[in-house]
Order: sequence, then C-alpha cells, then structure tokens
Amino acid sequence: MKYGRFSDDGMEFIITHPDTPSPWINYHINGRYYALVSNTGGGYSYYVSPRDSRITRRRYNSVPEDRPGRYLYIRDNSNGNYWSLTWQPVLKKLDFYECRHGLGYTRIKSSYKGIRGEVLYFVPIEEDIEIWRFNLKNTTNEVKDLTLFTYVEFCLGLALEDLVEQPNTQHYNRVYFDKEDKVIYGTKLIGVSFLPKEKQHLDEGCWGKYVFMYSTLDVVGYDCDREIFLGRYRSEENPIVVEQGKCRNSILTSGHAVGVLQHDIKLKPKEEIDFCVIMGVVDRLKYRQQTRRIINKWKNFEVIDKAFDNLREYYKKVFDKIIVNTPDPVVNRCLNIWNKYQARINFYVSRDASYFHGGLTYGMGYRDTAQDLLPMVIFEPEDAKKVIKELARNMFSNGSTYHNYFRVTNDGIITGHSDDPLWFPLAVIFYLKETADFKFLYEKEKYADGKTGTILEHCFKGIDYVWKKRSKRNIPLILNGDWNDDLNECGKKGRGESIMVAEQFCYILKEMIELFKFLKKYPEKIREYEKRYRVVKDAVNKYCWDGEWYIRATTDDGEPIGSKKNKEGKIDHCAQSWAVISGISDEERSRKCLESCIKLLDTKYGLQLCAPAYQKPSSKIGASTREAPGKKENAAIFNHPLTWFIQALTILKDGDKAFEHYKKSIPEIVSEDHDVYVLEPYIYSEYITGPAHHQFGRAGHSWLTGTTAWMFYCGTSFILGVKPYYDGLIIEPCIPSSWESYEVIRKFRNSTYRIIVRNPQHKCYGITEVKLDGKLLNTNKLPVFNDNKEHLVEVIM
Ligand code: GLC
Repeated sequence: MKYGRFSDDGMEFIITHPDTPSPWINYHINGRYYALVSNTGGGYSYYVSPRDSRITRRRYNSVPEDRPGRYLYIRDNSNGNYWSLTWQPVLKKLDFYECRHGLGYTRIKSSYKGIRGEVLYFVPIEEDIEIWRFNLKNTTNEVKDLTLFTYVEFCLGLALEDLVEQPNTQHYNRVYFDKEDKVIYGTKLIGVSFLPKEKQHLDEGCWGKYVFMYSTLDVVGYDCDREIFLGRYRSEENPIVVEQGKCRNSILTSGHAVGVLQHDIKLKPKEEIDFCVIMGVVDRLKYRQQTRRIINKWKNFEVIDKAFDNLREYYKKVFDKIIVNTPDPVVNRCLNIWNKYQARINFYVSRDASYFHGGLTYGMGYRDTAQDLLPMVIFEPEDAKKVIKELARNMFSNGSTYHNYFRVTNDGIITGHSDDPLWFPLAVIFYLKETADFKFLYEKEKYADGKTGTILEHCFKGIDYVWKKRSKRNIPLILNGDWNDDLNECGKKGRGESIMVAEQFCYILKEMIELFKFLKKYPEKIREYEKRYRVVKDAVNKYCWDGEWYIRATTDDGEPIGSKKNKEGKIDHCAQSWAVISGISDEERSRKCLESCIKLLDTKYGLQLCAPAYQKPSSKIGASTREAPGKKENAAIFNHPLTWFIQALTILKDGDKAFEHYKKSIPEIVSEDHDVYVLEPYIYSEYITGPAHHQFGRAGHSWLTGTTAWMFYCGTSFILGVKPYYDGLIIEPCIPSSWESYEVIRKFRNSTYRIIVRNPQHKCYGITEVKLDGKLLNTNKLPVFNDNKEHLVEVIM
C-alpha cells in the first residue's frame, strides 16, 4: 500500500503521498451542489448540471494533471517564500502531507517550515455551499508574518460553451468584489434559468445563478481576473500576485474569472487560527439577499461543525439499514462502508461528471441511472422512487427511451440502444421487492412525448417495444448497441441480434410474471408473457448455443459475434451469465457456459469481458474492435458485468467460486500494487486493463460505474443471501464453504432482523434450520412485522 491505506475503523482512506499515480478524488454532494475534490485540492464544482451550471472550472487535458482546484497559498512575508497547503499547485516539497477521504468530506493536512496547516472540505446536506474549514498553526518559536490567498477559477454556468467558445463567452462574465458584503460575486449573462417555465423570462437569458465566495477572515485585497493574478506566461504554480504578496483588486467583465481573497495574518509562537472559506450558489434575482442570509448563518463555526456532524449522522443512519459481519474484514469494509458510499455517489451523479466523464455532453445515462438506484431503494426509497419517476418521464409512449438525458433543460439524446427500455421495469421490480409499495404501479407519470401512463403501463410499453423489435428468428435486434455500447455497428441495418438482450428480456418477463402472480392480477398478461418467454428462450437455445457457450450477438450479415467461429472475440461472458439469470439455459448448459468463461476469460484481476481481444477495426462489429486490445469493451476486465457472472455462479449454488470472483475484484484487493492499478484503491472502477495490453492491471474510469450497485447486491443478496421479497425477507446464503458463520443486521419494512448464519457442515448452499425469535420456522422467508422491533433469526446451513 504505497500511497495510502484505510484508517483502522475503515471510515477514511488515508493518502500519505501527494503524488499518487493519478488524482485520487472524492465527491461531496447534497444532491444539488456537487464538488469533486482530489487529494491535492483539485477538482471542480457544479450545481445540478455539470454541463449547464458549472461553478468552477476543470482544465481538460491539463498538464500537470488536475488543475485548477480549491487552493490556499501561504506566503511567509519574512522571506517571500510561498507554498500551498494541499501541495498542488505550488508543488513545494512539504515536511508532512496527509489526505483523508471520508464519507462526504476530505481533510488535508500538511506542514512546511514550522507552519502546520489543515483544511476540511465538505458540502453540507442542508445548504448549497461548500465549506473549506482551515486551521493554521505556527509551531515555531518566532512570530510568523503570513499572507494568505484563496483561489478558485470560475466557470460560471455553461461549461461546454466555456470550453469551445473561448474567448467569446468570456464577455458575458461578471465578477466583482462587493465591499459591503465582503464577498466576491460572479455570474454569466447568458445561460440556463432555474425558474419555472412561466417565469424564466425574468432571468433575461442569463445564468439563473450567482456564485459567491466569502471568508471569515478580514479581506485586505482581492482579484477576480486570472490574467492579473497569475501574470503573463505563468501558471497557478507561481502567480505574480503571490510572489509579490499583494492583490491588485481586479474585477472582471471579460476574460478568465477567478476568486482570490487576500488575508494578512500574524501568528505568535505556537499560536493557531481557524477560518473558513464559504463558496456557494444563489438565485440571480435575489443573490445579495440570499448570500447575506447564508453568510450570517454559516460564518458561525458552531453551525459549521454541527453541519459536519449532521453529515456523519446522515451516513450512519442511512448505512445502518444493512450491516454485515463476515469472517472477512475486507468484505466487511467494502460492504459496510465504501461500496455503499460509492453507490450513493453513483446514484446522484450517474455518468454525468468524474475525472473520466467530462460533464459536458453525456448527462444522466438512462440504463445507468436505472441500475445505480438499486441500492438506494434500501437506503432511501423515496429518493429512488423519485428517480424512477424521472426515468418514466424520459421514456416515450412507444416504449423507447432517451439513452441519456439532462436535468435542468429536461431534454435528452435518442440513440436507439436496444436494452434501454428493459432497465425501467427492472428498477421498478427492485423497488417493489424492497418496499411493497404496490400503489406506485398505478401512479401516473408523463412520457417524454407528453402523453401520460401509469408506472405499470410504462413497464408494459418498454417490454412491448423490445418484443416488437425482434428478428425473424424471434431474437431481439441489437440496433445501436445493447448493454455493451461498443457493439454499435453490427446492427446498423436493423438485422443484427443481441443474445444478451434476448436473455435480459426473458429475465424481465419472468420477474413480471412472478409479480402478477403474487398480486393475483393480469392473467392475460401472464399468458402473453409466458408465451413470449418460451418463444425467445427456444430461439436462443435453438440458434445461439455454440457447443460450449452461447454466442453474444449476430451482425446484420448474420455472422456470429462471440462464437468459436470467430478468431477474435470468441466468447463474451454477458451472454452466459444472463442465460443463467434468466433461467433460459438448462442445468447442463448453465454449467458448461460458465465453466467456459472461467477457462477462456479468467485472469488474476478477474474475467475479461471477451477474448481474444480484437486486433483490427471492423465496421461489422463496432467500437469494441477500435479500442486498444485489452482496454474497455475490447477484452478488459469489465467490472460491471462481472457482477452478473457472480450472480450466475450463486444461482448454480457454487458459493466457493462466486466468492472467489467477488473477493478478487474488491478494490482494496485488486489495486494492491498502486503503481500498476493507478486509480483510487477505495472504490470500484469501470474496468481493469486486460492481459492483451501492456498496462495489464491498470484501472480505467473510476467512480461512475454500474459495478457499484450490482456488487452491493452480489455481496448482500446473492452471496450473503438476504433477499428482499414482496411479502418477506428471503434467506438463501451461497457462501464460501470455509466460513463458519456470519451475521447480517437488516432493516426491512420497519423492523430489524438480526440474522446469524452458522455453517457447521461447511457447505456453500442449503439451509437445515431457521429459527425466528427462538421458534422454528418451516420456511426461509421471514415474515414482515412492521413493528419497529428487532427480531433474532438463527439459521443453520
Ligand atoms: C459504460 C457505460 C454503460 C455501458 C457500459 C458498457 O460503463 O456507462 O452504460 O453499459 O459502458 O458499454
């Protein structure tokens, strides 16, 4: 663990060297205000939409990496020497450095020539601001005469225009220091409004927000113009103003906007000082009034510290809904803390903004969001429900959907991916199994084209859409791609098929049939869906079994993808896992196809998505063949579908193998060599470079990945076997045979189930006895009590 490690309680990841192999970041978000914060103070902020309402800038393709950020320059006026508390951007070698990423906050400590510094960055739950809480201490025996400069670079709204329309959009920038409020205010006189449609004209086409920056220390100078602060041909590393120790009091009406506040302080020997910088967004039409209210409240350190405590309490409360205690501390740390944490971040961010997702063109992924919300149905079902409704509004009345959509502007992009409509019913099913909120099925929601339908009708439409778009052989068409975005050229002419979508379709039908049977409703739908299930199942088994595994897709020319006939991309595990999950493969085929995956795809970092890697671009297949061999969809170890493989292994009751694959992909394990892995070792990445590439083992695209949601279910439901169901909590462990026992404390429908599982015979699967509150139970389905009490569940395998 060269660059860092978890704290003993697992609640923080402690980075001990600032020059990590890549920026290791954290997210501080309250669902409206979003701040990405790196281990050296880098990162950017936005309000709701990183494309339309960006607060601070990210310099794309920056050298060095990860600029700009939220910086504090400290200048020793006795000799003009200056450094930055967070190492970046001045990069002076610090005498001490430490960064702790925790749940919703980041704390960086450093020390330089006797001045100890600390900054705590966080975004409170209750206000749309970010707080940088500083402490500086003079540990020497001399008085220190210091000048401090806060620094951010503003974007002010439209981030895409800010990038491509330089320098024209800069003429709309207005940034100034308000002497009365002692605040830097900034806005752009073009942008999106946040007012209701009928009032939007009041914003006059301007960005409907102002940014403000305030400090609790006396302000003796300021700068709002980057050119003036940095000086000619300089960078954040050596601003002329810092070098000379005096702000120029620049304002900005066109050009690159920054927020710099200057403070002069003297620290006696051993003296220390606390101060805070508060940056936030307020409404354009009432910006001063709102800012004053916020500052009045938040300049008080007690309020700030209380808000920080609230943040911790919030996480505790939400995450206490399920706590596991297994014999494996790495699993416990992952499932109890970091997997949950990342899941919550993913829920809010989808694929919008990371250090890999640019925050400029993509927005909220439809299929992504539908999967990201799955753990949130446990943590915060009301929020999950809101997002399911948002997904409903982004479906058209013919059952197709936007592939990605944008909040604030409420628009989206239609791509024609074949799988999108199926993720909607999947999200609804997960939500219902957790909550039994069946009324939700009948809530009305608009379609993207303005028509209205119930949530259930939305499900029907999505299913019908996929059913209609099937080949003559009764296999769904792949169209512009399926879960694998990069199989995007094989179905352009509308003939290529997706075996994965076929199987996913069968899975959804199976789930819907089960739901209707449970509800004792919709017999005709049951009949219809059973028929469709049979038709697609038979087609896949008839045409797509390749001898030892299922093929993955067919091209417009009827050629197979993922078949032994192919030289490259012979086998793809998605088609195998979903065959098992959907129940379309018989026992023999199920075993055979999963075995083939292990034989042909496994590596020390996990299963490659497909193999061998494509070496030549093919317009008959798509982008998978264009990516470097071993990267992304071209034979990387793609973590997201790995979760389905693990699930499939548990369906075959192979707890040892399921756990082996689950465990080796846990970030802490797979990132062991930080220099090889490169990205954050505390959260899942989208993929790990495969063996076909010389960077084998290097992670790609950290933070925003469907891996997170599904790994959480792999751990808690598929392996530990705690499965929410419409009328109870099912216990069905599929664990490593070496485990003696484990415990899960699960809140479910207003009761707490303390589940203790013992495994005296060292089995992987199968229950011998269940006792509930001391009495034998003749089922593995625990009843719903709804009684705010704790119930003891003793299970013997
Ligand atoms: C990325 C996308 C996801 C897609 C996957 C495979 O993770 O966010 O939507 O399914 O790649 O292409």
